[in-house]
Amino acid sequence: MKQIYLDNGATTPVAKEVIEEMKPYFDKKYGNASSLHSFGMEANEALTNSRNKILKKLNAQKNFKCVFTSGGTESNNLAMKGLAFKNKGKHIITTKVEHPCILNACKWLESQDFKVSYLNVDENGFC
Ligand SMILES: Cc1ncc(COP(=O)(O)O)c(C=O)c1O
Repeated sequence: MKQIYLDNGATTPVAKEVIEEMKPYFDKKYGNASSLHSFGMEANEALTNSRNKILKKLNAQKNFKCVFTSGGTESNNLAMKGLAFKNKGKHIITTKVEHPCILNACKWLESQDFKVSYLNVDENGFC
């Protein structure tokens, strides 16, 4: 049976161009971008260039920043907790079928006096 992969929202193959672009950073230019030695400064410059390229591609406003995270869980936590504490509201509405990192962030926000409503979804994923 031929299988097809429908979970590209979770993991997806890396584009050949990206692999080529990244290769040097796995075996030659692997300095810690926060370090002050030349290896670190080289990595830091590459990160700055990447951030600038991404911001330009996105036509981002001048004051926007590009933050790299380790993955979905960290990104979701950053977005949810950042927005929750930045906004004045204390009520978050989500669904019962979110990824555990969303549901766990919601649980934690409840412990910080946010009210969270967990909506049911139908067989098509609609509320
Ligand atoms: C919708 C969604 N959110 C968050 C995550 C978590 O991502 P990570 O494993 O990169 O932390 C996944 C991973 O499957 C996901 O599918």
